[in-house]
Amino acid sequence: MSKIMTENLISNQDRDFEVLKCQILKDKGFDCNQYRDTYIKRRLTIRLRANNLYSYRDYAKLLNSDPMEYNELMTAFTITVSEFFRDASVFDYFRKNVIPSLIQDKRRKKQKIIRIWSAGCASGEETYSIAISMYDFLGATPENFIISVHGTDIDGASLVKAKKGEYTFEEVKNVRADSLSQYFVFDQGKYRVRDKIKGLVKFEKHDLISGKPLAHFDVIFCRNVSIYFSRAMHERLHMEFCNALNTDGFFVLGKTEMLYGAARKLFKPVNAKEGIYQKFKQTSIHPHPI
Ligand SMILES: C[S@@+](CC[C@H](N)C(=O)[O-])C[C@H]1O[C@@H](n2cnc3c(N)ncnc32)[C@H](O)[C@@H]1O
Repeated sequence: MSKIMTENLISNQDRDFEVLKCQILKDKGFDCNQYRDTYIKRRLTIRLRANNLYSYRDYAKLLNSDPMEYNELMTAFTITVSEFFRDASVFDYFRKNVIPSLIQDKRRKKQKIIRIWSAGCASGEETYSIAISMYDFLGATPENFIISVHGTDIDGASLVKAKKGEYTFEEVKNVRADSLSQYFVFDQGKYRVRDKIKGLVKFEKHDLISGKPLAHFDVIFCRNVSIYFSRAMHERLHMEFCNALNTDGFFVLGKTEMLYGAARKLFKPVNAKEGIYQKFKQTSIHPHPI
């Protein structure tokens, strides 16, 4: 194939890729442009292969003729792998340092409400791990603290599982034996989260890209979610998390990601190795607490 023909083929593919992204945005409201192109292309390749197709143009035609394919595509776009107490050292630091500091601050300010957001919570493992950590620290009589841990995700199927709160033996492998008996009931081959923990959590569908801004949180976890986002979206998201936190609130970004953009000036690292930051400057607060 001549160099010119190869270049034409590539530019056609690039153009078809852009057209396909517009079509997905128009039909499903899913904005591929906020993710890294390499990520979107990898996920599209899975669907092209599954349908024996070789071009974005043919795949766009398929989406037009078979809207059910969109369900498969949306599933392919979300990587929902999660674990209880994922990255043990992050949770160790959270339990031993962040929670005590947060509680001390709340007592000093005579505040009773503690709001935590697990953004991109998948099937709830992270959200429940946070709630268990809080319960462990405060005990059965949490001194009248009102704790709420909000798990949000874009993926409806994951949220159904999160709300159910039932996990296999393999899925709870990271949960300590004492926590397993304290916070789970073994029933019909599954470990079900006990009501005392379920009562602390709330799950809601929310798109971090197009959803309403949330606010008034003391801690935000957002781990293994924005790795797939574009640089511009990263910067916007980290700024939005900063706005969503109360002053002195904690941002748990985790070990695999770094802070981007203007938010770098508004957070101080509490433990950079574990990806834990604290907001030290007040920013504008959006008026939409969930
Ligand atoms: C790999 S999981 C991470 C789960 C959990 N945070 C953890 O670290 O174990 C990534 C989650 O991010 C969610 N996600 C991806 N894009 C999102 C978006 N725009 N808004 C909300 N959630 C999103 C996916 O549906 C998926 O459940």
